[in-house]
Formats: sequence, C-alpha cells, structure tokens
Amino acid sequence: MSVPGAELAGVWGRNLEKTHAYAARFLVGAVAPSLDALLAMDLDAVYIATHPDSHAAICAQALRAGKHVLCEKPAAVNTRQLVEVIASAEQNGLLFMEAMKPPFFPLYRKLKAHLEEHPIGPVGYVRAGHCDATLAPDYPLHFPALAGGGIMGIGPYEAFLALDWLGPLKRVQTMGRLSAAGVDAFAIFQTEHEGGMAQLHTGLDLISCGDAMLAAPRGYVLLHANWWNPTRATIHSIDGRRVVLDEPFEAGGFNYEIEHFCNLIRSGTLESPVITHALSLGMAQLLESARTELGVRFPGE
Ligand SMILES: NC(=O)c1ccc[n+]([C@@H]2O[C@H](COP(=O)([O-])OP(=O)(O)OC[C@H]3O[C@@H](n4cnc5c(N)ncnc54)[C@H](OP(=O)(O)O)[C@@H]3O)[C@@H](O)[C@H]2O)c1
Repeated sequence: MSVPGAELAGVWGRNLEKTHAYAARFLVGAVAPSLDALLAMDLDAVYIATHPDSHAAICAQALRAGKHVLCEKPAAVNTRQLVEVIASAEQNGLLFMEAMKPPFFPLYRKLKAHLEEHPIGPVGYVRAGHCDATLAPDYPLHFPALAGGGIMGIGPYEAFLALDWLGPLKRVQTMGRLSAAGVDAFAIFQTEHEGGMAQLHTGLDLISCGDAMLAAPRGYVLLHANWWNPTRATIHSIDGRRVVLDEPFEAGGFNYEIEHFCNLIRSGTLESPVITHALSLGMAQLLESARTELGVRFPGE
C-alpha cells in the first residue's frame, strides 16, 4: 500500500472472481459478499471506483452506513445527484470528497509554490484538452447507460483545471458531435469564469495531445502531456526567461489524493480544502451544461 498508515481492509465487487483476484493482488484484508456486508465492516471510509451511473447511489448507501466517502470523478451523473450526496454527508457529519488527483501531484504543488514566489500575474485563460480514439468498443465511456462520453470521462479534469485557476463558473458554450450510441464523441466547450475564460476539448474519436496552457499577464505555463498526471511544467515569462519544473510521481499517482483524504479523516475535517464541495458542484454544473447543450442525456434524466 502506497499511503502511509492506510490499510485496504475490505473490498466488494459484483464479479466475485475478479474481486478475489484484485484482493490477492493488492493484499486486501477481506472480500465482502455484498455491498451491505462491506458497509457493515469496521471501516473508516470507502473508496468508490465504479462507473459514474452508480456513484451517487453507492455514496448515499455508504454515508447512511456511517462511512466517510472518497468517490471517483465525476462524483455523480448530474448536479441534482451531487447536491443530495453532499447534503447527506453534511447531515451525517461525514467527510465526502471527489477523487480529483491532479492538484495533489508533486509537480502541481511545486508549480503553485513557484508561481507564489515568482508571480506572472493572475491566470486569465486556460486551454486544455484530450481525445482518445484508442478505447475499445466495449469501453464504458461509449455507453449512455454508464453515463459515458468524453465530457464525463475526460472532461472532469479539464473542468477542474479551469475552475482551479479561473474561479467560479459563469457560463458555458459547447459544440460537438454525438456517437451513434448517443454520447458525445467530440466536444469543444468554452467557459467563462469570474477570473477569465477557458477553451476545453475532449473526444473519443480523435487523438490529441493532452497538454494544457495557463496564460497570465506576465507569462504563461505549459503543463506538458499528460497534464492530468503532471510531471513537467515550463513557465515562460514576459522577459524571455524560461523555467522548467520536473517532478516525477510515484505509485500511479492516486496515492497523493488518498493520503490527503486520510489526513482529513485523522484531523476530523469534513470537507477537503482543495477539492471543496463548491468545486465539485462547479465541475458538475460545467459538465452538465456542456453535455446537455449537445443533447446528451442519460437514462432517468
Ligand atoms: N481508468 C482510469 O485511469 C481512471 C482514472 C481516474 C479515474 N477514473 C474513474 O474511475 C471510475 C471507474 O473507471 P475505470 O476506468 O476504473 O472503470 P473499470 O476499469 O471498468 O472498473 C469499474 C469497476 O466498477 C465496477 N462497477 C461498475 N458499475 C458497477 C455497479 N453498478 N455496481 C457495482 N460495481 C460496478 C466494475 O465491475 P465489473 O467488472 O463487474 O463491470 C469494475 O470493477 C470512473 O468514474 C472513472 O472516471 C478512472
């Protein structure tokens, strides 16, 4: 286990064979025969890593069972579901955090510290995007029933980047095309925030670079691909100076957000100061606006 002081005490999956294989590989204490059985175990928290269509229901069940929750992105299918999950966490006095890994990577933290010490002014424009046409036809993102599409699969990272540097969302404009199954196969969404504007793209039928750029009055930052698992940033200043930051990550990169989450539990903090509930709601609003403008709706909506 790559997170100091944390232990994978139990796991549940709907496919028992796969779940046992997972438990053996990651040295998990016990395989629970059902989700109810898992939630009845003496656990501090659960980490939900199913597809987005099931996130809100499992979050609600875990919170009712008194467990703190770390839930993979996007934490719910839409804003309405996320509002309910957050309200349930607050009512039960439990920690709820959406798993959004980039801000916890060593490089991202180093970049923020560097810009504090060597400011280039407030970021006023963010450009980010990624398309992946290599995903197999049965990959979950191709299916509306699993709340798929590029906006839901890749878009959460881009929504995070825009909100993190530009602040609260004001409006979204989207262009794109749908797949035969009815999810977005390609989308460009531009957003206006209190601190500036972003141009974002995502897709399942093209290949693109996966880098990002943050523009400010006295310089710009290139976050090199893949920016959501960041290891290199180049800061170009208006005076011609160029600074390259390099910072590798360990153990897949999920370990940093999990360590942050565990520290919040230990200190009795019920909301992450990094991935705040307001930030998660902002991401949900941005994604929902972008996909509904394209006509992407999921079963039950
Ligand atoms: N792939 C990545 O690198 C990555 C990175 C960051 C975040 N995420 C996020 O992590 C989540 C999972 O993505 P993934 O790529 O890991 O998917 P995945 O490899 O298909 O794994 C999803 C798992 O969830 C289980 N599952 C799905 N729906 C379920 C339900 N309704 N009830 C119980 N179990 C269910 C699946 O079980 P079966 O095997 O029985 O289908 C499978 O074990 C998504 O929200 C995604 O955005 C993924």
